[in-house]
This record gives sequence, C-alpha cells and structure tokens, in this order.
Amino acid sequence: MKKMLFVVLLLALVVPSMSFAADLASDANYKAKCAACHGANGEGKAAMKTAPLKDSASKSEADLTALIAKGKPPKMPAFDGKLTPDQIKALVSEIKALK
Ligand code: HEC
Repeated sequence: MKKMLFVVLLLALVVPSMSFAADLASDANYKAKCAACHGANGEGKAAMKTAPLKDSASKSEADLTALIAKGKPPKMPAFDGKLTPDQIKALVSEIKALK
C-alpha cells in the first residue's frame, strides 16, 4: 500500500514536468515571449501579420534556431541573449512538432 502511494506521488511529480516542454502552448517561454505575436496556440495573429507557426514546422532545426536567435526584420525580434540556447532548442522542437 505504501509502495503504491509512492508510485502515485512520483508520477504526479514527473508527468507535469515531462509535458511542460513538449507542447508549444504550455511552454512558459512561448507564453512569455512569443504568444503575443503568434497566438496562444501558435495559430498566428492577423493584427500582427503572423502566419500559423505550423507553416514553419517543416523548416530545418538549423533554420528555425537561426530564425529565433537572429529574428526576421523588421517585425520578428531576435532572441539571442534573451533566451538560452537550450530554451531556443526546446521552442524549435515544439514548433517542429506542430506539423
Ligand atoms: C513582436 C512580435 C513577435 C514576437 C514577440 C515573436 N515573433 Fe516570431 N514573427 C513575427 C512576425 C511579424 C513574423 C513574420 C515575419 C516575416 O515573415 O517577415 C514572425 C515569424 C516567425 C517565424 C516564422 C518565420 C518563417 O519565415 O517561417 C517563427 C518560427 C517565429 N516567428 C517564431 C517565434 C518565436 C519562437 C518567438 C518567441 C521566442 C517569436 N517568434 C516571437 C513576430 C513576432
């Protein structure tokens, strides 16, 4: 019985931290830094002239990483120095998972 409780507690700790970075819409960095222009679920925002991020999902990891780090003037800001390489990497794999 005690063992069972332990397993349940362990799952309760592990499961949310796993789903955390796997999904763009629930990535704290996406919510804080990207959602305002790209929509809560990456669906794009007409007012910001952004297309759904799904349309960029087939781009290579290298292209997406460079795009987020360097931005795309004049509107898409550069995130080099504002996000760590690991945070950018997580965003890239979450965008690629949208396709
Ligand atoms: C101030 C608004 C703004 C913010 C904040 C912003 N973007 Fe963008 N983003 C844009 C605009 C506008 C474009 C379209 C640029 C173009 O096509 O010229 C764009 C384009 C993109 C593209 C697609 C480019 C392509 O050519 O396929 C990706 C991917 C992207 N943004 C990711 C992100 C991520 C990830 C973040 C957060 C770290 C972010 N953006 C934050 C405005 C923004």
